[in-house]
Amino acid sequence: MKILAIETSCDETAISIVEASGEKNPKFKILGNSLLSQIDIHKKYGGVFPMMAKREHSKNLVPLLEDCLKQAEMFQLKNDAKKIPENLEKIFEREPELMKNFAELVPRIERPDINAVAVTTGPGLEPALWVGINFAKALAILWDLPIIPTNHMEGHIVSSLISESSKPVSVQNNKKLVEFPAIALLISGGHTELVLVKDWLKYEIIGRTKDDAVGEAFDKVARMLGLPYPGGPEISRLAAAHRTSGKISNQKFPRPMIHSHDFDFSFSGLKTAVLYAVKKIGELGQNVKEEIAREFEDAAVEVLVSKTKNAVEKFGAKTLILGGGVTANKEIRRAFEEVAAGYEISLFIPDPKLSTDNALMIAAAAYSRIIGDKKILEKKSPERNLEIKAEGNLSL
Ligand code: KG4
Ligand code: ZN
Repeated sequence: MKILAIETSCDETAISIVEASGEKNPKFKILGNSLLSQIDIHKKYGGVFPMMAKREHSKNLVPLLEDCLKQAEMFQLKNDAKKIPENLEKIFEREPELMKNFAELVPRIERPDINAVAVTTGPGLEPALWVGINFAKALAILWDLPIIPTNHMEGHIVSSLISESSKPVSVQNNKKLVEFPAIALLISGGHTELVLVKDWLKYEIIGRTKDDAVGEAFDKVARMLGLPYPGGPEISRLAAAHRTSGKISNQKFPRPMIHSHDFDFSFSGLKTAVLYAVKKIGELGQNVKEEIAREFEDAAVEVLVSKTKNAVEKFGAKTLILGGGVTANKEIRRAFEEVAAGYEISLFIPDPKLSTDNALMIAAAAYSRIIGDKKILEKKSPERNLEIKAEGNLSL
């Protein structure tokens, strides 16, 4: 089955077309994958501005659709332009620019060979989510397709299954498939969650951050050190430079909640400790920046590892899954490979290219919904499709 997926929850506009097959061991063939990151736009402001993200998504979606259909060899213009459906204006009430772009091109495209449209409905920035959702609604009406509303965090959980080979990064005892129960650690700019995955689609959040998400802490600490947004890769680069120098960091930061008897996290105390250190030092030379980055990264990784190990032990997890933008971090990847080897369990981490937001993971998450409930594809009345709405705080 072919799924066209749309992701606009934050600062990446993405569309992909994936051919998915199999149930126990799903396989994903990437037919098209188009993505535009707004990082350079938000960089100037040191973070993501929802209304600006919304405007960019409105501008980018139609060109990305064209690009993605071309990659999938599904882009064909017809001579007789289809009439624009009447309720399109109602759908795009708040996105006049998207409406204009859509009306100019999309009705002229031959209906592609696609079975469903998947779209992220949350969690994320609501104005940004709505752009993708309204785009999905318009496509669904035009091409008479069902919409699969998709949870962004579920996308991060399954993102490790869509790398070219779908192989775990670290195989123990020849276990190449996800075995349940699994523990998933989701670490992104907006989330830090430990999830018990009892089976596909059977999730229980067993712990989460009480304040900042770990990616957010990386971004804020980077800003304190005068580094650009997003801060994760910058901190990681400085920390790595310090590690290879063989020097010991003279900074000492706390490992918040590392000994608490639960699976929750807290990163704001760690961030504040960095702030105090930065204020005390005053002028920050390159060496001290590297020391701070190193100690901060060590502290964050230690807490993540310790809580995850506790969860693996308590629930007898047979698989460890990592997801979210922060999994691009080399030190985190290394540390969790060690954890998995220690317990002799398999570890799934997305390919670094797929660890930050993308639409492939949304297609994969939608497919897991379809496997769980085939009837979902029959529910395609225009009324039902139009009821789908953005849920900024959607939980797993
Ligand atoms: O999943 P994602 O793309 O977007 C959200 O849903 O939040 O994650 C983005 C986050 C940012 O906070 C960014 O700083 C962080 O992932 N990140 C990293 C690294 N690369 C990206 N954090 C630490 N180390 C990295 N190498
Ligand atoms: Zn994300």
